[in-house]
Amino acid sequence: MNSCRIVVLISGSGSNLQALIDASKRGEIDGRIVAVISNRPGVKGLERAAASNIPAITIDHTTYPDRTSFDQALAAKIDEYAPDLVVLAGFMRILTDEFVQHYSGRMLNIHPSRLPKYQGLHTHQRAIDAGDAEHGASVHFVTAELDGGPVVLQSRLAIRAEHTPDSLAAELLPQEHRIYPLVVAWFCAGRLALTPEGVTLDGRKLDTPLQLDAL
Ligand code: GAR
Repeated sequence: MNSCRIVVLISGSGSNLQALIDASKRGEIDGRIVAVISNRPGVKGLERAAASNIPAITIDHTTYPDRTSFDQALAAKIDEYAPDLVVLAGFMRILTDEFVQHYSGRMLNIHPSRLPKYQGLHTHQRAIDAGDAEHGASVHFVTAELDGGPVVLQSRLAIRAEHTPDSLAAELLPQEHRIYPLVVAWFCAGRLALTPEGVTLDGRKLDTPLQLDAL
């Protein structure tokens, strides 16, 4: 693949977006973020994009009558940038099956849990409430099942008695900032693919998710 064209979707702070911008600037990703699109106006992630001279676009979901029309507008805008890869980085919207299908095999998400544990929201609180010994983050291909697509790489973090949901989230973010650029780099290098058999890295099927602490 020639230098990979990446569109990043955000809803908020965009710290994962920043990690991708920085990794790309350092040459760790053979790719370029060609646009950043937020469904919420005025968020910090849009400022981060603009500061790096990346088109920073808002498509406010509240101005659309339903999910389908928003997703259609979003896809139309994304496709103007002809991306090889769509990266969800704190994009807090449920996507229609049509949208997911359109980007099948070329859309990644990061989720703040060790999937399949804690799909959906409030993952830090739920891990603490369950008395889990460890927490983590997962990068996965996006499929029709919410937070249910095949996981590529996970991180691991010991939960301590003093952890609150906020402190756990804060401690997890730097791990997210390590695993997401790695996976995006693999995809852009043509090493990572979603095949009918599952995820492959360097042509070998991953039977279980890769673990950051085992790389
Ligand atoms: C990150 O923790 C990410 O894992 C999470 O939102 C945060 C976004 O932070 N994503 C989800 O919960 C998706 N279901 P950021 O805007 O600073 O990258």
